Amino acid sequence: MYVRVVVVTAFALAGLGFLLLTSTVVRRRPPVGGPSGVGIVGTPGGPEGEPPPAPTIAPPVPDSPAVQVNRRIFLNRAWLLAMTVFGAAFGGGFVGFMWPNKLSGFGSVITAGKKADILASIKNDKRPYYNPEGRFYIVTYPHADKGNVYVKEGLVRDGLMALYQKCAHLGCRVPFCESAQWFECPCHGSKYNTAGEVQPGSPAPAGLWRFPLSFDGDNIMVDTSKPSGQPPKGTDTLREPPAGPHCV
Ligand code: FES
Repeated sequence: MYVRVVVVTAFALAGLGFLLLTSTVVRRRPPVGGPSGVGIVGTPGGPEGEPPPAPTIAPPVPDSPAVQVNRRIFLNRAWLLAMTVFGAAFGGGFVGFMWPNKLSGFGSVITAGKKADILASIKNDKRPYYNPEGRFYIVTYPHADKGNVYVKEGLVRDGLMALYQKCAHLGCRVPFCESAQWFECPCHGSKYNTAGEVQPGSPAPAGLWRFPLSFDGDNIMVDTSKPSGQPPKGTDTLREPPAGPHCV
């Protein structure tokens, strides 16, 4: 998008500069003598048998003040135009480079899919729905009471919550362990229950971050620009032991 803006701006400035340049009248001095302005005043022939005398050369004719002024104006405007176009292109490129234009992918609002499909996937596969593009899991969370910390923060919608895959210890991706039905980090062994709450013995100082989740018609939308609601160590709203052997 910014490239288009820069190109249009450059063309507009170029057009403006062209108008300025064409509005500048450069008066040419009248031709005098030879092409360099040096005039040959006379070449009288000598008497027969003698070499002709050297021609008399007139001194160069200086530009009139009007021509000098017009040339200076022309050069000043050409220089100004060149600098303006260069500045616009460079400035536009710099602004475009720095502009936070995150429109899709991680860091934006992501359409996870239809709610019915995601619920069916969680139920049939017995594991959270995983969205690799948004780096989040969608888990079922069976608490809706207003005193619940996640409900209060607006992170639970229709019994669903979105968890950021990033380990709270050193940031590894935390996969889901099907046998234990917990999230278990392969890097240093941190374990989180299905709600992403860190379990005792884990090096992670807190639970997994959450992403705000909302609905757009049938679709679940997850805003991956705002990780929040990280539960402190000791939080355990599920109080469920692992369902089976651990993976790490
Ligand atoms: S990064 Fe996950 S436990 Fe260290």
